[in-house]
Amino acid sequence: MKTLADLGDLRGKTVLVRSDFNVPLDGTTITDDGRIRAALPTLKALLDGGAKVVVTAHLGRPKGAPEAKYSLAPVAARLGELLGQDVTLADDLVGESAKATVAALTDGSIALLENVRFDARETSKVDAERAELAGELAALGGGVDAFVSDGFGVVHRKQASVYDVAQILPHAAGSLVQGEVEALDKAITDPERPYTVVLGGSKVSDKLGVIANLLEKADTLVIGGGMLFTFLAAQGHEVGKSLLEADQIDTVKGYLARAQEKGVTILLPTDVVAAEAFAADAAHEVVPADAIPADSIGLDIGPDSAKAFADAITASRTVVWNGPMGVFEFEAFSGGTRAVAQALVDATAAGAFTIVGGGDSAAAVRTLGFDEAGFSHISTGGGASLELLEGKTLPGLAVLEA
Ligand code: 3PG
Ligand code: MG
Repeated sequence: MKTLADLGDLRGKTVLVRSDFNVPLDGTTITDDGRIRAALPTLKALLDGGAKVVVTAHLGRPKGAPEAKYSLAPVAARLGELLGQDVTLADDLVGESAKATVAALTDGSIALLENVRFDARETSKVDAERAELAGELAALGGGVDAFVSDGFGVVHRKQASVYDVAQILPHAAGSLVQGEVEALDKAITDPERPYTVVLGGSKVSDKLGVIANLLEKADTLVIGGGMLFTFLAAQGHEVGKSLLEADQIDTVKGYLARAQEKGVTILLPTDVVAAEAFAADAAHEVVPADAIPADSIGLDIGPDSAKAFADAITASRTVVWNGPMGVFEFEAFSGGTRAVAQALVDATAAGAFTIVGGGDSAAAVRTLGFDEAGFSHISTGGGASLELLEGKTLPGLAVLEA
């Protein structure tokens, strides 16, 4: 994989950088700026080297047209604060505003293009449509000189600003992408055992897919978060109004059977925190995982489960964690996530190699007040880190090899 150094002297050159600025927002307030901070080393290196830096990024999943709530304006402001220099935000991606903004850049200055997903060609399945957008991005400023891929969280997406631009411009991985790949590689290639993978979060069907692969690699799979209810249902339990993907129950049954065959432990909660509603102040109680009341909704793993999960984690030499255990944003339902985070910190202190993967778990760790230094690696990528762990070829990385 080519790195920044391979691009040579970039003074006076226009460099297009793909970053992942898909940060959690409360209205226009960024609630966790971890992904922006993670992007700084590459951007600073380019700016210090005198490049004209043009950054492209997405926020959320707009449907290929501008939508005010997905504007990158809050990101531009925060990035400017962190860099200590102005970040001009273009009003569009490759239109008149973008063209004028890029043309006005001087050496060592930076601009951000508006949300790349406001253009339907970015995520198009039609190669020619993506290539056309990539061509327009590459033509900005009278012709971009180089492309730097540093949005690790999106390298699993075959999208115009991730994949297609790298096919038409001299390219390199930024230091964030490089560091992420090196850290994750340690868990993929011959992990020290016991190797435990902790999965949670609410993107249920996204993760059911990776489990099949991890069953062949990990010693223990710990399941929490929204997806746990599909596992409980697969075991024949009532899950009340909890998150459930009924169409995945058979697949999950297959996983449980495969785990038994392979001697892989799947650790499921034995108790859950069940609430009357999805709300911070909802009345709630701890109930056995096989006795969730029909009218309640599971919002966290229970204390017995948290203890069992922590024991499995601290007994491991390699731990990968992706996805919160419960609705950690609400204090009453943050206990499971807190316990898992603490167990990873304890395991790290005892010499284990630990990775926190995923925007949500990384945000959880910081929101709950843990010191990032307590973990071996905190990844900025959720889906991307999982797909790497699965052993998949990621389009945004493969394209950098060529
Ligand atoms: C993420 O938040 O996981 C990345 O930014 C990728 O976003 P996406 O899942 O919408 O492609
Ligand atoms: Mg994500």
